[in-house]
Amino acid sequence: MKNGTLNVTAPYEKRVALTPDAVKKLVKQGHEIVIETGAGLHAFYNDEAYANAGATIAQDADAVLSQVDILCVVHDLSPEQIGKLRSGAMVIGMLDPYRNDNLDTYAKQNVTAFAMELLPRTLSRAQNMDVLSSQANLAGYKAVLMAANQYARPLPMFMTSAGTVKPAKVVILGVGVAGLQAIATAKRLGAVVEASDLRPAAKEQVESLGGKWLDVPMSDEEKEKAKSTGGYAWTPSEQYMQDQAAVVDKAVSNADIVITTAQIPGRNAPRLVHKATLDKMKAGSVLIDMAASSGGNVEGTVTGESLLTDNGVHIIGAANIPADLAAQSSDLYANNLVNFITTLFDKEQDNALTLNMDDEIQGALAVTHDGTVRLQKR
Ligand code: NAI
Repeated sequence: MKNGTLNVTAPYEKRVALTPDAVKKLVKQGHEIVIETGAGLHAFYNDEAYANAGATIAQDADAVLSQVDILCVVHDLSPEQIGKLRSGAMVIGMLDPYRNDNLDTYAKQNVTAFAMELLPRTLSRAQNMDVLSSQANLAGYKAVLMAANQYARPLPMFMTSAGTVKPAKVVILGVGVAGLQAIATAKRLGAVVEASDLRPAAKEQVESLGGKWLDVPMSDEEKEKAKSTGGYAWTPSEQYMQDQAAVVDKAVSNADIVITTAQIPGRNAPRLVHKATLDKMKAGSVLIDMAASSGGNVEGTVTGESLLTDNGVHIIGAANIPADLAAQSSDLYANNLVNFITTLFDKEQDNALTLNMDDEIQGALAVTHDGTVRLQKR
């Protein structure tokens, strides 16, 4: 099997889908690897490192597209690129399945496209393939460092002869993988942390990290709904949203740093911080909106921009935080892909390819296969 990867051309992107270490693992499994020249440069992996790992370097993207059986990508391809793939090839990456307009093109080209975001996350054998978690974990950490860098005071308490420095108040909204890592990082830096999520299960996790849970009242019906969504966000009622807005308004207007991470897969991010609350915040406080690219949790966020409001509040519309840790995020991402690719081959059968849409991982990830679109639109 020939596998490969290309230069990424998406805005704000620096990651690469295969690192030299991943190449070594795949070569050891019997794959031939072809990498477009310069593909890893933004993640600090040069062509020489790939060649030393056993890859062949191709001089342009077309040379990779036309010869690979498996193409590893960070983001989706263009329709022109898909048209250059061989019939029967596979594409594996973060394909943004519910907003992807290219699925018919993949199917027409008879390409099997695997969207890694669709991994069944509660399946224990799938955990080492979970790209959303590996990237969100790093992003949650880095978001706190970005905020600390922008904030004009320290995060921990200091007792100095010139006076006592109070610890920063940090509020985290949305406590999934990124939010939990943000809490842990802010606590390690000495901040006082409060956090909220509409999943009641997050309360215990917040408290175990030393954070204070911001409680929003829930009806028994809502508690049941929350339990039945498999760990993902449920659709809140008008009453819940009003109660949540009051809790968020109070916490955020008193905060020094706010990190918002609330997302709903395949839909626009919920708006959690409104202008009326921003107007009450202290000058110098910092908001990092990690959901900026899916619509933003904070009113006024602009993806990729750092804004300063009239009352001196920084609103940073994070475009792609994992790309700011491209060396490490590429490493973990590539490991996730290698772990998935490994399951496509049967060691007992001379490493034969075993595409099987009845397999609960392959079946969940394959958005196109055998000339058809398999994804059910939401
Ligand atoms: P995400 O990136 O989809 O969203 C971040 C957080 O925002 C989630 O906790 C979500 O509940 C919250 N949120 C969404 N809308 C909200 C609103 N209107 N108000 C307040 N909070 C809101 O989440 P992520 O990090 O992808 O995690 C999703 C779920 O998957 C979580 O339950 C997580 O614990 C679970 N998970 C389970 C794993 C496992 O069992 N192995 C592995 C990774 C994640």
